[in-house]
Amino acid sequence: MKLTNFDYSPNTRIIFGCKSIDDIGEEAVQLGGKHVLLVTDKGVAEAGHVKGVIANLESCNLHTVIFDDVRENPTTEDVNHCLQLASEHPIDLIIGLGGGSSLDTAKGCNFLLTNGGEMKDYLGIGKAKKPMLPMIAVPTTAGTGSETQSFALISDEITHQKMACGDSKATPKIAILDPELTLSQPKKVAICTAIDAITHAVESAVTTKQNPISLLFAKEAFKMAQSGFESMVSDPENIAARSKLLLGASYAGIAIENSMLGAAHAAANPLTAHYGIVHGNAVGVMLPHIVRFNCDDSTSQKIYAELVADIGIANEKYKTDDAVNRFVERIDYLVGLAGFSDIKLGHNINEAELSMLANEASKQWTANFNPRKIVASDFARIYRKVLGC
Ligand SMILES: [Fe+2]
Repeated sequence: MKLTNFDYSPNTRIIFGCKSIDDIGEEAVQLGGKHVLLVTDKGVAEAGHVKGVIANLESCNLHTVIFDDVRENPTTEDVNHCLQLASEHPIDLIIGLGGGSSLDTAKGCNFLLTNGGEMKDYLGIGKAKKPMLPMIAVPTTAGTGSETQSFALISDEITHQKMACGDSKATPKIAILDPELTLSQPKKVAICTAIDAITHAVESAVTTKQNPISLLFAKEAFKMAQSGFESMVSDPENIAARSKLLLGASYAGIAIENSMLGAAHAAANPLTAHYGIVHGNAVGVMLPHIVRFNCDDSTSQKIYAELVADIGIANEKYKTDDAVNRFVERIDYLVGLAGFSDIKLGHNINEAELSMLANEASKQWTANFNPRKIVASDFARIYRKVLGC
């Protein structure tokens, strides 16, 4: 396999382990923080995590302002509300505590607080001209990997178009990965976020931008996340399983940062935007179809065979075709374990809607990086199978 050039700089210090959250105050002080903006949501507050973090920050003499109104799939309006609060205080450090939505809202606020303008001004990569505030990311779900990425995913309030706004200055300086914090996730949420992490690993492993460093992280992410997921489904309190999932999700975040995502995400986003299907559920139902589609690409075949060999289901004695079949079976099995409810919307979707979905999917940024070229008619064919129309 040809080794592609890459330029990788690890921007996020990762602190992993049970009770690592207890170091947050000291770490914030080390980063020069005095006035902290804590961005989170009501569910995380109800789980008691906000109270614990505030007490820790206060014990280190840090002033804290709390924005706990984060909503799922944050929009430009959510970021503006957060910005309004932040602007009233001399904020010098931001903490994102929660799922990907909290971390993305925190990053979005960081863009506007330090560089002004609107989120759409930062669509793409490297549009922030001025320095940004240091950020500490504390994920309480194991899924998006936002804690190790430079991107804030913010939807336009009106059009619901998901904007990927990336800048290395927005990358969290520190990610605190405390597996115990993820125990508060309801099982259903944990399943959706885990499937998202597995999809990140599988997609980032084979994109047109994949390279030795992204593949390294994608492979380890797949190994950790799929194993942790299998154990977590039968035993949600299993801390070893939660640890593997949390680490797997963060590794997948690094893989995405270095290689982007593919067509499963491109196909999933319109389903979330138009029908409110939860992201993890949407990518999960799409993943087996996109993996089968990509099996026609010889490099993807080889990588799929390696992924399944890495988890001991195939070995080097397997012919590539056989190993790829085992990989596809494994993906079917993992998505089956999630037990997603049927999203067959066939009777509600007419031809015009189907072609609207397929067109939108083909225009998603991540579709550009799918290893096998995919166009609207391919998405339409896949949607017909998945949605039953
Ligand atoms: Fe995702």
